[in-house]
Amino acid sequence: MSDMDMKETETARIGAVVTGGSRGLGRALGHALAAAGARVVLVARERAPLDEAVAAIRARGGEAHGIAADVGDIDAAFAIAGQAAALVGPVDLLINNASTLGPVPLRLLMDTDCEDLSRALAVNLVGPFRLTKAIAGSMAMRGRGTILNVSSDAAASAYERWGAYGASKAALDHLTRTWAAELNGTGVRVLAVDPGEMNTAMHAQAMPDADPATLADPVRVAAHIVTWLVARDGARSGTRGVVRGRGVEAPEASS
Ligand SMILES: NC(=O)c1ccc[n+]([C@@H]2O[C@H](COP(=O)([O-])OP(=O)(O)OC[C@H]3O[C@@H](n4cnc5c(N)ncnc54)[C@H](OP(=O)(O)O)[C@@H]3O)[C@@H](O)[C@H]2O)c1
Repeated sequence: MSDMDMKETETARIGAVVTGGSRGLGRALGHALAAAGARVVLVARERAPLDEAVAAIRARGGEAHGIAADVGDIDAAFAIAGQAAALVGPVDLLINNASTLGPVPLRLLMDTDCEDLSRALAVNLVGPFRLTKAIAGSMAMRGRGTILNVSSDAAASAYERWGAYGASKAALDHLTRTWAAELNGTGVRVLAVDPGEMNTAMHAQAMPDADPATLADPVRVAAHIVTWLVARDGARSGTRGVVRGRGVEAPEASS
């Protein structure tokens, strides 16, 4: 099956795993996917907000389940993959959205502990890598599936004090392109998206003085991302999209 698979099946009844699904963009993605008919599994560390996010989707008639796990935990990926498949059947969409900034206020590299860089890489890069390894194989066997890695502007620009986070996201972008090249012909798409600045807890932690009115609503951003994922003429594997005001802008992927 071709790259077109996700687009042809759209989101009806597919199994979708969204990490970082208890708040912010991940929660909004869970809602948007469930509203489109997907069977959604949300992953986050704290149980209470996760249960609340699941209940909110169910209250609107959608299907959702929660798995409490830390994606930076070395043992988490296969447990998440196994539980998700047991809950919703084959996973056709994995969104690696959970992320950490590291210690806030954000620090210059010279003041960043090596352990804090390691933790940013463990959550933002190695966690998505482990989950992709745990799930992409079964996608390839079925000849279908999409993996979306949530990136950031900080992957492309060297902002002072964003070094650890930015390096993790830049490496995630590179893994996205390499996964796409290596999975070419399997029917599995691997994409990245920069969601832009959103009014979320993460943004408030990083930039507490920002005016929320200048930031995008994650619900709107999630709607753009889901529209991009299911579009019939949608993104080719390896593409890095950027959310702008009216949708996702996505230059053709380079191989
Ligand atoms: N907000 C922005 O302006 C912005 C801009 C560019 C890119 N992004 C990217 O967009 C994505 C979503 O960000 P957001 O602003 O929505 O963040 P957020 O509001 O802080 O939400 C983060 C979510 O991830 C979960 N999470 C954090 N660490 C985790 C871990 N180790 N294991 C499992 N779950 C974990 C959190 O729940 P628990 O704490 O309970 O685990 C929460 O559900 C991230 O990849 C971020 O880098 C955001």
